[in-house]
Amino acid sequence: MAKILIPYGTSEGQTARIADYISDLLQAHGHQADTLDLKHAEHELPDGYDAVIVGASVHAGKHEGFVADFVRRNRSRLESLPTALFSVSLAAHGDPEDAEKYVKEFEDSTGWQPDKVAMFGGALLYTQYGFLKRMMMKKIVSSKGSEDTDTGRDYIYTEWDGVRRFAEAFLVYVDRNPGPSS
Ligand SMILES: Cc1cc2nc3c(=O)[nH]c(=O)nc-3n(C[C@H](O)[C@H](O)[C@H](O)COP(=O)(O)O)c2cc1C
Repeated sequence: MAKILIPYGTSEGQTARIADYISDLLQAHGHQADTLDLKHAEHELPDGYDAVIVGASVHAGKHEGFVADFVRRNRSRLESLPTALFSVSLAAHGDPEDAEKYVKEFEDSTGWQPDKVAMFGGALLYTQYGFLKRMMMKKIVSSKGSEDTDTGRDYIYTEWDGVRRFAEAFLVYVDRNPGPSS
């Protein structure tokens, strides 16, 4: 049984939902998995984990700065363990080159090279945004040629099957590349 930590950053909640989904899935496979909302926690990587999956979402072209801070602060310990990064954005749904650019920028700015990387489509939560954010997101979305501009509903782009495949592939990787404590 591996003990896996999933620290994440989220602004509107979709990355938290993905972190919870991964955690449930790892537990269903017989492992211990804990999520850690970086906004509400000490920013040190707790001891005793065999592997780490970091999650972050993109706003205005960048992942959360506090997730980058967490990675920088704990980089040498992350480098001693099997690790993965999942990045959540709208670009991952329709514009993979941009999604990859966000990840590259995160890796460059933190100096951390996760062993595995995944990019997941996020969510357009029009019904939860305030007026200004709703109008801004509608404008951005329509400027990209998308028809997902009905602000009376939400659009969820996360492909849960892809999330499951990523988590299961990471488990195989952890099994073959155990960290120092295993
Ligand atoms: C104000 C705002 C700015 C955003 N900027 C970007 C962006 O620059 N590129 C992108 O691909 N997605 C962008 N998104 C989409 C988010 O990445 C997406 O909604 C994601 O699901 C957010 O995850 P979270 O709920 O975990 O914060 C933006 C969303 C909002 C609300």
